[in-house]
Amino acid sequence: MSAREIRLLGDPVLRELAEPVDRVDEDVRALIADLMDTMYEADGIGLAASQVGVPIRVFVYDIREPEDARGALINPRIVETSGRQKEEEGCLSIPDLREIVQRAGRVVVEGLDADGEGVRIEAEGLLSRCLQHEIDHLDGVLFIDRVSPLKRKMLLNKWSKRPESERSATPAM
Ligand code: NI
Repeated sequence: MSAREIRLLGDPVLRELAEPVDRVDEDVRALIADLMDTMYEADGIGLAASQVGVPIRVFVYDIREPEDARGALINPRIVETSGRQKEEEGCLSIPDLREIVQRAGRVVVEGLDADGEGVRIEAEGLLSRCLQHEIDHLDGVLFIDRVSPLKRKMLLNKWSKRPESERSATPAM
């Protein structure tokens, strides 16, 4: 297990449509362990495989509280959504940028866990937002795609001039 390099905005792998996983084997479990290490090292709350350069449909998450709101999801899909939330969001692949993003309030997500067993997660609040953000990554979508064109232009402009020292308390994923 080891932390891997997180790919940043501009790397084409972040825009790929990630491939479904056919078999949850040792390679997938090793990738999940590395994703967890990488996520914790970067102090993030979620990380998709694409973000370490492996475009397959796997991500990990840990929103810290409640303690059981953590794990890995393989081939996830959103099967229900309701309501709305607008909160500030960040992404480990676009460090130091954050913006208010509108997402579904509550989601139900189905997929496989690291043992290849089917799981169903009902989520709201931060967990719901995190799951939606990570599933977007698997489709090559970044949070900056979910803001107005004007805001996106401002964010990209800020990204091109970002100071290395700036750090954010906004959860990044
Ligand atoms: Ni992200």
